[in-house]
Amino acid sequence: MARPKIALIGAGQIGGTLAHLAAMKELGDVVLFDIAEGIPEGKALDIAESGPAEGFDAALKGTSDYADIAGADVCIVTAGVPRKPGMSRDDLLGINLKVMKAVGEGIAANAPDAFVICITNPLDAMVWALREFSGLPHNKVCGMAGVLDSARFRHFLSLEFGVSMKDVSAFVLGGHGDTMVPLVRYSTVAGIPLPDLVEMGWTTKEKLDAIVQRTRDGGAEIVGLLKTGSAFYAPATSAIEMAEAYLKDQKRLLPCAAWCDGEFGLKGLYVGVPTVIGAGGIERIADIKMTKDEQAMFDNSVNAVKGLVEACKGIDTSLA
Ligand code: APR
Repeated sequence: MARPKIALIGAGQIGGTLAHLAAMKELGDVVLFDIAEGIPEGKALDIAESGPAEGFDAALKGTSDYADIAGADVCIVTAGVPRKPGMSRDDLLGINLKVMKAVGEGIAANAPDAFVICITNPLDAMVWALREFSGLPHNKVCGMAGVLDSARFRHFLSLEFGVSMKDVSAFVLGGHGDTMVPLVRYSTVAGIPLPDLVEMGWTTKEKLDAIVQRTRDGGAEIVGLLKTGSAFYAPATSAIEMAEAYLKDQKRLLPCAAWCDGEFGLKGLYVGVPTVIGAGGIERIADIKMTKDEQAMFDNSVNAVKGLVEACKGIDTSLA
C-alpha cells in the first residue's frame, strides 16, 4: 500500500518542524510547499539527508507548485506571517487572510479530499476563512490550538505539582487568543480534579489562577523571548498529534477549532471545543456542560472570534 501523502503549506519555522516530525514518525511522504524560492526544496533535502542516520522511510519534496500536493491525505497550513513582539495574533488578520485565499484555492484544486489542519493565526478566523475559500466539507477542515494550549497548561501544572506531564490532563476551550478558557474543573492529575488538589493542599487557588493566566499568555511569552518569530516546536508537535489521529483512525478526543453548528449553542462558527478525530475527520464534538462562570468566559471568547470573522468579511467582501 502506498504511503499517505502529507502536504505542508508553508515551509517556515513550523512547516520545517512538521516535516521533520512527520518523517521521523513515518506518518507518510511529505511535500513542503512555500512561495519563498529555495526554502521548501532546501528544507526537504536537509531533512531527507537526516534519514539514513535516523533510519526513517519517507520521501520528502520541496516545491512552489500546487500541482505537487495533488491527492494529499493531510494538509497542514502554516503559510502566512507570525507575530513579532508587541503584536497580538489579531494584528496578523489582513495579511494572512489574503494568504488563506490562495491556499484555500490551491487545496480545493489539488487535494479536495484532504483532512486540513490550519495553524495560521489568528487561528479561529483563519480556519473559518480557509474553509470558506476552499469549499471543503466542514468536518474535514479544523484548526490547531486547543492541543497546544492544553499542552502548555499541562506543562505548567506538572511543574507546580512535581509530577510527570504524562499524568496531567487538561482542558482548554474557546478561541486561541487572550480570551481562551482553560477549564480548571475538567483538568486532572491522574484523574484527581484540580479543585480537589487545592483542597488537598497541593496548590492554592491563587497559584492556579496564575497558571491559567500564564497559559493564556503562553504564546506571547515565547514571542517575547524569541523576538524574531513565534513558537514552533510545540505548535508543530500538536498538529502532528492531530494528523496522526486522522491517518491512524485513532478516535482521539482532542480540543481543536472545529465547526460548531448547534453544538455549544453556536450557529456556524469555528471555535475551540473537544472533538473526536478519526478517519472521518472531526467525527464528533463533545458538547460539555459549563458552569455559569465558565459559560461567561466562553461567551466572551466566542464574541472575540465573531468580531474577527466580521473583520474578515469587511476586508474581503466575497466572504460576506
Ligand atoms: N503561500 C505559501 N506560503 C506562504 C505564503 C503563501 N501565500 N505566504 C507566506 N508563506 C510562507 C512564508 O514564505 C514562510 O516561509 O509561510 C511561511 C511562514 O513561516 P514563518 O514565517 O517561519 O512562520 P511560522 O513560525 O512557521 O508560523 C506560521 O503559524 O502559529 C502561526 O502565528 C503563526 O501565522 C503564523 C503561522
